[in-house]
Order: sequence, then C-alpha cells, then structure tokens
Amino acid sequence: MNICPFAYLCRMEQLLQQINQYTEEIKSLNINDAASLETYRIRFIGTKGILKNLFTEIKNVPPEKKKEFGLLLNEFKQLAEARYEEWKSTLDNGAGAASQIDITLPGDTLPLGSRHPISMMKNRIIEIFQRLGFAVAEGPEIEDDWHNFTALNLPEHHPARDMQDTFYIQQNPDWLLRTHTSNIQIRHMEKGKLPLRIICPGRVYRNETISARSHCFFHQLEGLYIDENVSFADLKQTLYYFVQEMYGGDIRIRFRPSYFPFTEPSAEMDINCQICHGKGCNVCKYSGWVEILGCGMVHPKVLENCGIDSNKYTGFAFGMGIERPAMLKYGINDIRLFSENDVRFLKQFISAI
Ligand code: PHE
Repeated sequence: MNICPFAYLCRMEQLLQQINQYTEEIKSLNINDAASLETYRIRFIGTKGILKNLFTEIKNVPPEKKKEFGLLLNEFKQLAEARYEEWKSTLDNGAGAASQIDITLPGDTLPLGSRHPISMMKNRIIEIFQRLGFAVAEGPEIEDDWHNFTALNLPEHHPARDMQDTFYIQQNPDWLLRTHTSNIQIRHMEKGKLPLRIICPGRVYRNETISARSHCFFHQLEGLYIDENVSFADLKQTLYYFVQEMYGGDIRIRFRPSYFPFTEPSAEMDINCQICHGKGCNVCKYSGWVEILGCGMVHPKVLENCGIDSNKYTGFAFGMGIERPAMLKYGINDIRLFSENDVRFLKQFISAI
C-alpha cells in the first residue's frame, strides 16, 4: 500500500482506488430486472449518486493531477452510463422479463369448468332443429295467465289446468311461474311475423313432489312451425328426422293419440327403448317403447287468439322434456342430481364438452 506524504495526495489515491473498484463492480454486474436497474441508477448516476460525489471531489485534487483525474473520472462516467443504457434497452425490449421466466417449467394447471349435462343435451337438440331452419326463441319464466294458459285454449276453470300444478305469485294471482315454454310460442305468434319456425328451450315449474323421477322445476324444449299448408305429415317427418339424428339410424317411432287443449289432433310420440332394444327393462316398463314428446297441429282457436287467420295458416307444435333424454344418455338415475351443484357430479361431464 502506498504511504502518502501529503494529505491531498493521499485523498487522490483514495479516489483513484475507489474509481477502480467501482469500475470493476460495474463490469461484473449483470442486471436483468427493472427494480435492480433503478437501484443501480440511483446509486451510480442519480443526482445524489456516486458519480456526482466524485465530480465534487475534483476541487480536492491538486492542480497538476486534475487532468489525469478528470480523464479517469470521465471514462468511469461513460462506462456507468453506457452500461445503464445497455441494460435499459434490453429490459425495454422484453428480453429482461423473459430471461426471468423459466420456459422449461411445466405450466400451472387451472381447474376447468364443464358444461352442465342439461345444457349439453339442450344444445344437441337445438343443433338438430337448427339444421331444419328453426331459430331459438326465449321468453319470461314469470308469466301472466294469458300467455301460459288462456291464449293456449285453457280458459279459467278448464279441467286441463289441473294437469299442470301451477305456482302462483302471491302478490298478483294473474302471475305465475310458467308451467311450459309454450308461453314463448304465444308471444312470438302475437308479433304476427309469419311464417314462424322456432324452438323454445327453457326452465319450467310445476308443483310436484320432489323425488328421483320428478322435480318442481325442469327443462323443456318446444317447437312451433306455422305457415300455409303445414300438415301432420310435416310434423311426423320433422320429428322422425330429429330422432334419427339424435339416436341413430335404426330408431323406430310410434304416435299414440293424445289430448292437449292447444293442439288438435294431438299425439304422443314414443321411440323404441334404447336401453334394452325391446328385450324389456325398467326404463320402458317392459313395453319396449319410451315416450319422449307430445305434439299436434296447433288448435285453430290458439291461432285466432294470437291474431293469425286460421283459414290461411296451419301449424304444428311439439314439446319435450330435456332431463329425461339426458338421464337416458348419461345413465343418471336421480333427477335431483341436476340441481344440487355437487362438483363430484358435474365434473364427470368435462370430457363431453
Ligand atoms: N306444452 C306441453 C306440455 O308442457 C307440451 C306440448 C307442446 C304438447 C306442444 C303438444 C304440443 O306438456
């Protein structure tokens, strides 16, 4: 170590030593994140930083050494600033952030949600009818008496109202929770734009005892086609196309006469049992047939109620539940599972999105 005879020379030695140390430090530094770069800036080139301090030391350097010291200090300044700019531009180009990310690590697995089995079945049915030109229509779940009953040829005290145990809204006895999605069909017919070809999916409510087979709310999908010259043959062919697409080519159907106040004639449609294929099982109650929907030609009175000329126009309608086919398709044996939101149940349908 140099022993310095004069105090100011001694100070000069110290300063030169410091500059050398800082130079080495800066050369060996490698900065690749914004926070460290800011710390560096404040320490070396900031207004109260090392560079600034060294420059104020010039006055303590003996005159004959000022030039040598000044040159060295300028070199150091250039190095400190150049390194700063270099790191800053790599960081600005994003390389800095990237270099902190280990792209070879496996990604985080995020829990995946899944479609509800009712939605999946509903979408399957919609897809098939959309291919035939049916548009999806929606309507309110809280409905007035007219749209749910009266317009559908179910005037007050009509015995068929008992078929659909209704939830009424306490504040206003004219309001109720819709018992079927036929209310949507009335609302669309009232708009008067013909021809009309819609399917109406939605949730419906009936005051039934909750059990493995029935619930106080469930889902329906109804269809309506109104135009000139629509016949029962069109209805049969449309529904036949639907079940073929839904269940496959070897499906068989049969129509049984039935009664609905809003259709005349009315029918119920069965398919051959897709579980036992005729051998006999619980689902088809050993008959080989499973009922899947109700249908018929729209009653002229319903058309008139909606302002449609029943001499000019005819139409067909059908309605089916969504829970039943979903239970058959996915092997679900209790209807309550659909609405319990048990993740263990719901996550089983992930692969079927
Ligand atoms: N609205 C009927 C029901 O809920 C279903 C249906 C619709 C029947 C259209 C015939 C025609 O039971």
